[in-house]
Amino acid sequence: MFLFFMFMFFSPCLSKSTIAARNTTKTPTQNIGCNFYQGKWVYDKSYPLFDSLKCPFIRKEFDCLRYGRPDRQYLKYRWQPNDFDLPRFDGLDFLKKMEGKTIMFIGDSISDNHWQSLLCLLHQAVGPGSNITRFTKDSLSSVTFQEYGVTIQVFVTHYLVDIENEKIGRVLKLDSLKSGAIWKQADVLIFNTWLWWYRRGPKQPWDYIENDGKIVKDMDRMVAFRKGLTTWAKWVNTDVNPIKTQVFFQGITPFHYHGVEWNEPGATNCGMETTPFNGSTYPGGEPLALKVLKEVLFSGAESVKLLDITFLSQLRKDGHPSKYNKFGGMDCTHWCLSGVPDTWNTILYAQI
Ligand SMILES: *[C@@H]1O[C@H](CO)[C@@H](O)[C@H](O)[C@H]1NC(C)=O
Ligand SMILES: *[C@@H]1O[C@H](CO)[C@@H](O)[C@H](O)[C@H]1NC(C)=O
Ligand SMILES: *[C@@H]1O[C@H](CO)[C@@H](O)[C@H](O)[C@H]1NC(C)=O
Repeated sequence: MFLFFMFMFFSPCLSKSTIAARNTTKTPTQNIGCNFYQGKWVYDKSYPLFDSLKCPFIRKEFDCLRYGRPDRQYLKYRWQPNDFDLPRFDGLDFLKKMEGKTIMFIGDSISDNHWQSLLCLLHQAVGPGSNITRFTKDSLSSVTFQEYGVTIQVFVTHYLVDIENEKIGRVLKLDSLKSGAIWKQADVLIFNTWLWWYRRGPKQPWDYIENDGKIVKDMDRMVAFRKGLTTWAKWVNTDVNPIKTQVFFQGITPFHYHGVEWNEPGATNCGMETTPFNGSTYPGGEPLALKVLKEVLFSGAESVKLLDITFLSQLRKDGHPSKYNKFGGMDCTHWCLSGVPDTWNTILYAQI
């Protein structure tokens, strides 16, 4: 009862129909009463949240306006949950709340996307002349907003579990997670892995898989994904101090290469898309990987909050770089900045 009232006072989502919403969201990884993830994209002329041409942190893959994206409407959508208003991202407030703390994104290039969005949001808030220092070593890149003592990091790892070079070749070890000692020093961790689990051929960065002590040439990739996540969940439970460190897992980010998923069966990429899919469900349905992720989280890692951004991102077939990146290839996997990851960060901001 006491806890219930604590949430009543401190939860950010009390503005509308809170009690009704509270009654319907029972999953342990969501804030009581906050369903951030059911809603719609609405046009908002005050968007985007930052000017990408003024942000010095954007990779050439995500810098759509700089590489000639002609349409602007994709910048103008705000996520509106059904039950309450999401607080607008306030960079100075974020930095004050996080004073002295370190936030680390851990995962593949989608984590980089997420990280750079947050850096741009904060950079815009502190303004020019602020002391921002950068540092990169091995897999870890770090940016510190010196006046606030806030450090925002990304640790690049495709699978979370390890790949090791052995005599037979590169081995993906589903039971081994060795970078955790670095990760657990941070105050907020945001994990993600998915993109690489189905990579084959020359883009596959391993030669063998080790599973339960046995080396195999290959295996069912979804089973491997579940196994890797389970190893990660065990690590969270045994190694991460939940009093010091808040842990999030970013849901599965969707690709847009199959038009049938958004009722345009002819489309084989996102190249012609300039508006979100308008609907309260997505025809493509929930990805199997998300089901697996939820099962692992609910059964093994209750302290982890799921940033369940899959559905809201599925609607954004217009949010990808398509050909507007330095390399000109068709990219319907990553996201333009400014863009959809700003919303992931707005939801993160509402929960930390
Ligand atoms: C909450 O759910 C219970 C059981 O489903 C129902 O009886 C009650 O009226 C609901 N309360 C509100 C405020 O919606
Ligand atoms: C920025 O902060 C760093 C670390 O505190 C300090 O060494 C450096 O002198 C500062 N730079 C400026 C321009 O203030
Ligand atoms: C979505 O459809 C509804 C109902 O047809 C319409 O009112 C709304 O403006 C549409 N939204 C967008 C973003 O196109």
